[in-house]
Formats: sequence, structure tokens, C-alpha cells
Amino acid sequence: MDLKLNNKVALVLAASKGLGKAIATALAAEGAKVIIGSRDEKELNQTAAEIKALTGNEVIAIPVDVSKGNEIAEFVKKAAAAYGRIDILVNNAGGPPFDKFENFDDEQWQKAFDLNLLSVARLSKLVLPYMQQSGSGRIINIISGSVKAVLGNSVLSTSMRMGVVGMAKLMADEFGPYNITVNNVAPGLILTDRIKHTLPKDIDSETAIKDKAKSIPLGRIGKPEELAALVTFLASEQAAYISGTTIQVDGGANRSIF
Ligand SMILES: NC(=O)c1ccc[n+]([C@@H]2O[C@H](COP(=O)([O-])OP(=O)(O)OC[C@H]3O[C@@H](n4cnc5c(N)ncnc54)[C@H](OP(=O)(O)O)[C@@H]3O)[C@@H](O)[C@H]2O)c1
Repeated sequence: MDLKLNNKVALVLAASKGLGKAIATALAAEGAKVIIGSRDEKELNQTAAEIKALTGNEVIAIPVDVSKGNEIAEFVKKAAAAYGRIDILVNNAGGPPFDKFENFDDEQWQKAFDLNLLSVARLSKLVLPYMQQSGSGRIINIISGSVKAVLGNSVLSTSMRMGVVGMAKLMADEFGPYNITVNNVAPGLILTDRIKHTLPKDIDSETAIKDKAKSIPLGRIGKPEELAALVTFLASEQAAYISGTTIQVDGGANRSIF
């Protein structure tokens, strides 16, 4: 299937590794002009070079901390200047820490808000004029399966992601007339560094991964490229009538009916 992403300009945040990197790679492989952002400049440049070598397409790396408004503004300005248009925005960021509700203070709540909720609002607002100008656009937010079923110790993440779900619904409503779609992708357990860091230290990592997979109907943890495939489809011309949704990529892990 030709996803008609040739020459579309895609911004992918938090893309030096993990889900963001897989998404940037998949979009570049489909012909999009990809601009990636995350904090560590060296790692980001390496990733851009890797994706270019793999796909043959140019990837631009612009360092940014998505929890900082001034850096986001600079990122979008530079990204827009690169090709004169922005067609696709993939809102992604690092995840907040896991712990019990009672252990988080105001500062940690504020950090999670800046990183996982305000960043989505800021980036979406700044790309909107470019999408309005071209008469179409795609905004895709990477959130978490915790918006569908309770995940212990994820109160910071879940609270912010629920905000994104509400925001995306309203944005889908407001941006529909501009032919801009807004959707959320909710990962279950996808093997990235973030997940590797949460594995128990008292057993070897292969056993720990197998243990985690036991409760997943498909019997395994997901691969970043499996989530990236959905994001790439949502970014495509073929997904023009899908908006305001939250879609899980979790191997069937969420058993809730609604
Ligand atoms: N993997 C899963 O199974 C899973 C499940 C549910 C939800 N999620 C969510 O999906 C998102 C991506 O997770 P992942 O598994 O891909 O994580 P990861 O492998 O740890 O990668 C995180 C990426 O985010 C970047 N990043 C972190 N803080 C940033 C900031 N302030 N500004 C810009 N970039 C930043 C990192 O680069 P720098 O450190 O250089 O900035 C890195 O590129 C997270 O929000 C996570 O909570 C993941």
C-alpha cells in the first residue's frame, strides 16, 4: 500500500531512541521528510545518521527539551524553516517516574505536567498554522495503555495522559474543519530502554521479560516497530477519516470491553 507520505514533513519528538526512533524510521522509510528532536544532541545526531543510512532519506536532528516552552518554540521555528511546511506532528516525550501516589510532591507533579501534557498543547498549537495553511495535517500523541486500565504506580503518567485524551478529543473537534486529524496511540508493553530499566534486578533480563509477557494474550512484549506501523498508518492519506480516537498497541493486554 502506498501511504502517500512522500514529501510530507513529519516532526517526531523524543526520537533519539525507543518508540520515537522507531516511528521516525518508519515514516522515513515511507518517504516522509523527518525532523527529530530530543535532548542529547550527540545521540540525536547519531540516530538521524542511522535512519538516513537505513532508509536513504534525509533526517534532520534538532535538539529540544519538550518540557521547556522556549525550546519548543525554537524547535518548531527551525523545523518549519527547513522545508517551509509541517504536515505531521508526533507528540512524544520521556515518561514520568513510577511510584505510589503518596510519594510524589508538587515539584514532581509540575515536571510531569510540563513534560507530558503541556508539551502536547504547546507543540500542537505551534504547528497548527502550518497545517491550516496547507489544508491538512496529522497530530498523533504517544500516551499509555494506562488510560484504558489501571497500571500500578503510574499515577503521574496516567493523570497526564488522561489530560491528553481529553485535549485530543477537543482538538479533533476544532481541527476537523481544517482537515486535520488528531489521534492517540496507547502502548502496552513495548521493549525499549524505559521498560528495560523497570525490570526486576534480582533475575536475568530474559526471564524477567518472559515473566512480564505471561499476562499478555499474544504471549510476548511488543516491538517498537509494531507501534510505529500504526503511527505511520495514522499519518497516511488512507487514515484521513480516523480522528479523535485512542488506539492501543498492547498484544491484547487490556481486557476491558470499552
Ligand atoms: N515502551 C513502553 O512500553 C511504553 C508504555 C507506555 C507508555 N510509554 C510512553 O511512551 C513514551 C516513549 O517511551 P519509550 O519507551 O520510547 O522511552 P525511551 O526508550 O526511554 O526513550 C525516551 C526518549 O525520549 C527522549 N526524551 C526524554 N525526555 C525528553 C525531554 N524532556 N525532551 C525531549 N525528549 C526527551 C529521550 O532522549 P533524551 O533523553 O536525549 O531527551 C529518548 O529519545 C514515554 O512517554 C513512555 O512513558 C512507553
